[in-house]
Amino acid sequence: MKIAIDGPAASGKTSLGQALAEQFGLRFIETGKMYRAVALAFDRGIKLSDIDIQVTGDERFLLNGQDVTSQLHTPELDQKSSQVATLPDVRARLVELQRKIARQHDVVMEGRDIGTIVLPDADVKIFLKATTSERASRRLEQRQCGELEQITRELTVRDKRDSERAIAPLKPARDATIIETDQKPLREVISEVSNLVKDRLDNVAGAAKDRD
Ligand code: DC
Repeated sequence: MKIAIDGPAASGKTSLGQALAEQFGLRFIETGKMYRAVALAFDRGIKLSDIDIQVTGDERFLLNGQDVTSQLHTPELDQKSSQVATLPDVRARLVELQRKIARQHDVVMEGRDIGTIVLPDADVKIFLKATTSERASRRLEQRQCGELEQITRELTVRDKRDSERAIAPLKPARDATIIETDQKPLREVISEVSNLVKDRLDNVAGAAKDRD
């Protein structure tokens, strides 16, 4: 089972992904953290060819063997990760790593290009949407610091860069289910996607039975 979740920053991908991973026993991979780890490595003067990123089963991110998980979610790395994500060499390296993980495990993977580029054959593809103002409020609540106006400005800059870049821009896959989350509580989003996953599992089981 491969589930792809895409959408802009603070659209609820992580909460949805974690819930599905728990419910269906899948490995949860936040690919944004890989781009954040690369941005952190560049800040430390490490060249791309010397960067090694590993993701552990309990969702920790190791940069050249060091656990950097708690250092990845800063406003500075929000922007820097989005900048490094425009670089073809960086994307090629990380897409390769993401596909390797998906070959080894059943996964729910979230990011910007999972349904379009990383896992075009994913069993279920979800694209989450929410207005900028709603996402800025959510981010402010999560981080418990900063100002709404500033967060809104930063999200807008990042959305534009992530959606307009030449390679693998943020967009829904043609076969993705698009969910607008502004007016929808998280538990409803989870339940809707969970039903899609169950349908998919039923179809797979049915097809296997027909073959027998
Ligand atoms: O999901 P996030 O906010 O942690 O992602 C940080 C940045 O990484 C995001 O602004 C764009 C980039 N990114 C990407 O280009 N492709 C992905 N699959 C995931 C993230």
